[in-house]
Amino acid sequence: MYVNIFLVLFLLGTTHSFVPNFFRNTKPFYKEDNNIDLTNNKMFDKINGFYGLVGPNVDFRNVTSLFELFTGNGVIQGVFIDNGEMTFTNHIINTERYKFEKKFGRKILINLGTLILNTFNLMPISTGTANTALCNFKNRTLALYETDQPYRINVDFYNKIISTLEKIKIKGVSSFSGHTKIKTNTIETTSYNILKKKIDFITLDENLNVLSKQSLKTKYIPVIHDFLSDDNYFVVFDSPLEFDVKRLFQTSFPVFLNHNKPTYIHILNKHTGETETFSIDEGVYTFHFSKFIDEKDQFVIQSTQVDELDFTNLNFHSTLREVRINKKTKKAENKKIPLLEKISMDFPLKINDKQTLFSLVEHKKGFVGFAICENMKVIKKIKLKDTVIVGEAQIITHLNTPHLICFTKKNDKNYVMLMNLKTLSSETVPIPINITNGFHSIFIRK
Ligand SMILES: [Fe+2]
Repeated sequence: MYVNIFLVLFLLGTTHSFVPNFFRNTKPFYKEDNNIDLTNNKMFDKINGFYGLVGPNVDFRNVTSLFELFTGNGVIQGVFIDNGEMTFTNHIINTERYKFEKKFGRKILINLGTLILNTFNLMPISTGTANTALCNFKNRTLALYETDQPYRINVDFYNKIISTLEKIKIKGVSSFSGHTKIKTNTIETTSYNILKKKIDFITLDENLNVLSKQSLKTKYIPVIHDFLSDDNYFVVFDSPLEFDVKRLFQTSFPVFLNHNKPTYIHILNKHTGETETFSIDEGVYTFHFSKFIDEKDQFVIQSTQVDELDFTNLNFHSTLREVRINKKTKKAENKKIPLLEKISMDFPLKINDKQTLFSLVEHKKGFVGFAICENMKVIKKIKLKDTVIVGEAQIITHLNTPHLICFTKKNDKNYVMLMNLKTLSSETVPIPINITNGFHSIFIRK
């Protein structure tokens, strides 16, 4: 009988299945890894390190939904900088899914059938794509995806190449968040369980041994992307993500954000393990937190929020807002600044204790510039003429001044850009092949 059930599931997972396939764009952007020497540029002199951007190996121009982006196999695009000498490289991460697809010569489609097969370990994790973020500690670099274990990546400064070493199995940890935090001597990550509506906050040592695990229960489906952590608290937003089975049969992804239901804010005390829960009276989803301030009378949480989240399209308006929680009355308020409501921005990067840099997002164009904010005030807007930034930038200190480094596209030509954040002067170095957009990035100093 079980054989029959699995046969049915395999049929559901084929191209001719009546159940909609969520992943339509099956053509990869890169077919192979590349290594290309770039021309030297004086502005990059005295920089030694690697800027790497990870994202799905798909052509963003052909993509029609967020789901396609989240489920594309990971590719790292990066630049080795060796005292001004630069080498561009890209590496398709050798995930279990990628290996399976290479072996059988066909794509794994992502639909109800393959997702269930995946739960029974009959197929490699179809959504474990290592495409979200990179982290580095103790000379170890990991490629992360929030519902999977991390992949260890070799960043080879001598030969200027990147390769996949292995998928790391961490004892007692089922998955490793894309927003894993590297602290002074520890690593903090989260793992969520949709069926049990539970989030685990896991603290590990630098050799990836679990030091502690603290949990909290959520009201909704606990798909959390980012979390906050200081010396005393873990903080998450519990957003009204709902499952609508009807959507499955309307060729739609069944999970959506219900804006009419409250959002809960859970604050877990690391010392006592107790969780306090507060609420705001609207459904919002936060991809990224930018600041947490524990004041005498209140908690202040700054984050980018969306009011609408539908994984079947690319509509994305993310604004910077501030949740204030009164410690006495336990009342929470979601503070919106009219000027900020008009600006779509995300991917916060800390410049210093006062200032944060955000990427400006424009519908159908992508990242068109940057905004520098001091708390809830935009103090500088940097728009780049006819240029899009193809993923998260990184901030590096160069000649005692903060600079940003990122990949850009201008009139279909591709570049790596370095910008002085004080003078806003910038230089670009051409990349002679086409590059694709990514999500999060990293800068590793040599
Ligand atoms: Fe993220």
